Amino acid sequence: MVGGGVMGSTVAAGLVRAGHPGELITVVGRDAARAAATAADLCTASGTVAEAVPGADVVVLAVKPQDMEVALAQVAEVLAPGTLVMSLAAGIPLAFMKARLPEGTPVVRTMPNTPARVGQGMAALSPDALCTPEQVELARAVLASTGEAVTVPEKQQDAVTAISGSGPAYLFFVVESMIEAGVHLGLPRATATELVVQTLFGAATMLRETGEHPTMLREMVSSPGGTTVAAMRQLEDHKVRAAFLSAMEAAAHRSKDLSDGVVDDD
Ligand SMILES: NC(=O)c1ccc[n+]([C@@H]2O[C@H](COP(=O)([O-])OP(=O)(O)OC[C@H]3O[C@@H](n4cnc5c(N)ncnc54)[C@H](OP(=O)(O)O)[C@@H]3O)[C@@H](O)[C@H]2O)c1
Repeated sequence: MVGGGVMGSTVAAGLVRAGHPGELITVVGRDAARAAATAADLCTASGTVAEAVPGADVVVLAVKPQDMEVALAQVAEVLAPGTLVMSLAAGIPLAFMKARLPEGTPVVRTMPNTPARVGQGMAALSPDALCTPEQVELARAVLASTGEAVTVPEKQQDAVTAISGSGPAYLFFVVESMIEAGVHLGLPRATATELVVQTLFGAATMLRETGEHPTMLREMVSSPGGTTVAAMRQLEDHKVRAAFLSAMEAAAHRSKDLSDGVVDDD
């Protein structure tokens, strides 16, 4: 695990929780003492790139996008041929990594999201053509230790970023708005917060456990002439559905611009 910050620690912790022996996971940091402290917390090993990378089955790059160039150069120096390299960095294309790693290196680009920190992440992975089916499964298993993981072609990563990558922020925004509304309606803030958070959790659980279409579930709480349809009418009048579409288009375009910028800077 190259980078033992928020995401690197999250994935390493997920792997340990999933039963992978901690001593087989090495956390590598820029600062050896900090990496050792992180590793001790996670019950994993710590070491340098030169110590950890040559014998690894998979090298996970969990550094900030702006630190990828340096990290890739360090890894490239000692990487054994055929070793899988997977990146958790937002917006770093496969081509950027492949150009900096030894020819023939199998690479996976991934987009995790913040709920991985509570074991409920949603990640998408895009393997390049050199990955064997076993390596794709290995990458999927690494991500699945912190939640769910799906495989998508790399060209869909901008849409993934717009939906599940940034998605938690949209839902937090909805939660904030509903809590404010509860306070306006006279509820104590703590009560409004509890009502909204559990409602979100309950609705998400219903979606997952029933497998019903969201429209069906919404219609179940929409009595003719009742309270829910009165509220939905306001949301439609304020074009909330269209706003979500525009917001996610904007996020996807921004994601593409950022990735294109990385490649253009080559
Ligand atoms: N946080 C999230 O929820 C989230 C969600 C989706 C994707 N991601 C992606 O995950 C990646 C990591 O994000 P993060 O939030 O975990 O960042 P972070 O907390 O800043 O952690 C990055 C870690 O990488 C270390 N590092 C930098 N260069 C290194 C190198 N050459 N060798 C070894 N370690 C190095 C840093 O060390 P120092 O402590 O010395 O700086 C830091 O500990 C990013 O690319 C981001 O796009 C994160």
